[in-house]
Order: sequence, then C-alpha cells, then structure tokens
Amino acid sequence: MCECCSSHKSPVNEVIAVTGKGGTGKTTLTALMTRILCSEGFSVLAVDADPAVSLAYALGSNLDRTIADLRTRMIEDPDEKRRISDIPMEEVIAEEAVMTLKGYSLLVMGKSEGPGCFCKINDLLRYGISTLSRKFDYTLVDCEAGVEQINRRVLDTITRLFMVTDTSAKGMRTASSIRGIAGEYGIRGDYSKGVILNRIRGTEENEMRKKAKALGIDVLGFMPEDPGITELDLQDRPITDIPEDAPCLKAVRSILEQQGFFHEKLNREEMI
Ligand SMILES: Nc1ncnc2c1ncn2[C@@H]1O[C@H](COP(=O)(O)OP(=O)(O)OP(=O)(O)O)[C@@H](O)[C@H]1O
Ligand SMILES: [Mg+2]
Repeated sequence: MCECCSSHKSPVNEVIAVTGKGGTGKTTLTALMTRILCSEGFSVLAVDADPAVSLAYALGSNLDRTIADLRTRMIEDPDEKRRISDIPMEEVIAEEAVMTLKGYSLLVMGKSEGPGCFCKINDLLRYGISTLSRKFDYTLVDCEAGVEQINRRVLDTITRLFMVTDTSAKGMRTASSIRGIAGEYGIRGDYSKGVILNRIRGTEENEMRKKAKALGIDVLGFMPEDPGITELDLQDRPITDIPEDAPCLKAVRSILEQQGFFHEKLNREEMI
C-alpha cells in the first residue's frame, strides 16, 4: 500500500474542561462551543458534569438518560444488573447514558436520588470521559462550579482547561484557585490552561487583562455582555437559538480560532 493510502488521520481528540465560579457562564460557553464546532463539521461529545443539570437545556435537548439514572437502575434492579454485568463498562455508558442528538452526542452526569455521596457517579463520569472521548474530535465538559471536580480528579485526562470568570474579583480568585489545584495534583499530563473573561462591557478588557496578569493567569479571550443571551433567558429558550451574528457567538468563534481549534479542519481540507 502506498504511503498516501495507508496514512490514517485520527480524530482531533481533545478534551476541554470548562470550569469556574458559579454563574459565570460555563454552561453558556460550553453550549456555544458545541454549536460552533458541530457547524464546522467536528464530532463533539458534550458532557454535563454538573449535578444541577443545565447543559442539555442550553443546547435545546430533551434529557432522557443520565449516568445517575444508569447507576440507580444497576443498584435497584437485579435483572438489569445481570444484563449489564457481561458488557464492558465503556459500552454500557455509551449505550445507556449517551444521547445521540442532531450533530453531537451528550453525556449527562445527573443527580443521585436521595442522600448519599457522588463518588461513584463521579467515578463513572471520569471513566466515561476518558474512554468515550477517544471517539470524538472534541469532548467539551461543562463542570460543576468551583474546585471540587478537580479535587476529585474527575478531569484527570484533559488537554485544555478553560476557566471562565465574570469581572468580579471572586470569579478571578476562583480561577486562580482552580489553576493552583489543577497544577498541583488534580490533572495528569500536559494541558494548556487560561481564563475566558465573560460579560465584558465597554472598555473593561484592558483592566481585566491587568488583573489576570497580576495573578499570573493567561487570558484566552473575552466574551461580551450580550443582550441576545438575556433575551433568550427571558423567553426561556436555549442559548443555541442565538443568531449567527450575535456578539457572543462571534467572540467564542474568535477564541476558538485563536486557540487553533480549526487547524485540524484546514489540514483535512488540504488533504481532499
Ligand atoms: N455573555 C453573557 N451575556 C449575557 N448573559 C450571560 C452571558 N453569559 C452568561 N449569561 C447569563 O448568566 C447566567 C449564568 O450563565 P451560565 O448558566 O452559563 O453560568 P454557569 O457558570 O454555567 O452557572 P452554574 O455555576 O450555575 O452552572 C445565565 O442566565 C446566562 O444566560
Ligand atoms: Mg452551568
């Protein structure tokens, strides 16, 4: 076989964790990235790793299965446990917890019924992310607010850490703590990291850049305060309904472009 026929282009295979303080825009950013990367023809696994469960709605999808539901079935139904016990766990998660939707796949952690700890569900989530992500160009993980999932090593195999903050000092401090914990012991291997500053108004960019520099955090980009998002919120509509020319969508596209997300597409097009 000639060199040309034997060369096989593997998927991009990147895992991006979107983290940060509560309410700063993690789900909004993850949903916008999902929309953009799908429209560029990449295969995307969107992961809602927040027990509060909001990514599915932000993407305009119905939620009909979660990792937490799967675990509950395995615990409560002996027949189900028997049926599943011979199947490799990777396949079980793919078949029973992943939703295949228009243009992307969605894996939702969900909440456990009743009191109890999240350790086992987090274990299944970690396993799901590390195994399923191999089949996708981009796996985008919308994380729980704060540092807990980094602490628990749910994200132990990622390629990029996107820390989202608004312009508040608390948001920036949380980003700084996440970076510290991730660097010390939360994430294995090499990964790039930086902050995305959200809800920027007027001339705040320069001031925020200085604050990030003072904390030694790289700025990956800015997302403006976008009235289009507020309007969708008011109308109780998904963020993915945002028009193509919306400022927030343009900003996220530009961040992805600058961070090299579309290089692989160019490479593929050059090969055809
Ligand atoms: N750039 C923006 N312009 C206007 N509104 C925004 C913007 N980014 C986020 N919002 C709004 O801010 C609120 C919080 O956003 P989002 O749910 O994405 O944050 P989060 O970090 O995922 O929150 P949580 O920690 O609760 O999961 C939402 O109502 C969202 O619509
Ligand atoms: Mg969220």
